[in-house]
Amino acid sequence: MSAQELIATAKAMVAEGKGLLAMDESTPTCSKRFEKVGIPQTEEARRSYREMILTTPGLGEFISGVILYDETIRQSRKDGTPFVKVITDAGIIPGIKVDTGAKDMAGHPREKITEGLDGLRDRLAEYSQMGARFAKWRAVITIADGIPSRGCIEANAHALARYAALCQEAGLVPVVEPEVLMDGGHTLERCCEVTEEVLRTVFSQLYTQRVTLEGMILKPNMVLPGKDCPKQDSVEEVADATVTCLLRAVPAAVLGIAFLSGGQSGELASARLNAMNVRFKSRLPWALAFSFARAIQQPALEIWQGEEAHLLAAQQALYHRARCNRAARRGEYNTAMERT
Ligand code: 13P
Repeated sequence: MSAQELIATAKAMVAEGKGLLAMDESTPTCSKRFEKVGIPQTEEARRSYREMILTTPGLGEFISGVILYDETIRQSRKDGTPFVKVITDAGIIPGIKVDTGAKDMAGHPREKITEGLDGLRDRLAEYSQMGARFAKWRAVITIADGIPSRGCIEANAHALARYAALCQEAGLVPVVEPEVLMDGGHTLERCCEVTEEVLRTVFSQLYTQRVTLEGMILKPNMVLPGKDCPKQDSVEEVADATVTCLLRAVPAAVLGIAFLSGGQSGELASARLNAMNVRFKSRLPWALAFSFARAIQQPALEIWQGEEAHLLAAQQALYHRARCNRAARRGEYNTAMERT
């Protein structure tokens, strides 16, 4: 696989008006979300839910790629068509989550280190053979009193860079996801400081591990006040802080930045992405896109509830959020769209 092919895939992943749909919840995470809305936590329910998402008519108008989980990439539609074929037939690129989760970090209470490097070369070869064209690895950084530590930031950045190098060797575009969580009472300014330090460390490690920046996608958090912070900044303040931070820390060679939603509502995630594109579009070196899970799926999940009778309404809700995010990419989103 040449660098040119990697770059072509990365470009397609952030093509104009499009973004990624993350549907790679691990089985425990998926079970938690199902339990909350009363859906049985079975393999068949997960398959059926993912079939509802992937068969949404017109999804490919807004979604360039979907991120799958190991269980899902091996599953099929009820009629026997493999999901990977359903996805490519819809003009969407299949991707795969390859980390094996964030675990407690030794010597670093309250902090996490993401695992999954052992055997990764072989797993990437298998996923590539199954049709995946890109991969995802998520690192988790927590803000609280005295953390994040330098040790946690460096270890996670190093793992992200080793993963990214292995992906490019296998011909898969790495989605590099260092997530600074919005849990806690910290301010927007503190999130900005931590996010900048994390991104600078990640790009230093990517350079050391010889990752081609044009052949990867960055998936960062938006710069936000903590969920419990008494001061919740405006959409414009969030947009300005996020883009200022990214301009300081992300090299212009990167083609695209696709945000995670991190627990924001669908409407807020769209409004904030929109404000960034409205206020900065002419001065951005990279595309600003989305790679949302909850901010695209949540309304559809709540409507679906595991019932065949709710399928169409759930698909309409999913289509609607994906369409709102295309508008946000273009700087054309407004809250009136939520009433259509
Ligand atoms: P959220 O958009 O729900 O944060 O999920 C994105 C993701 O892929 C987390 O790894």
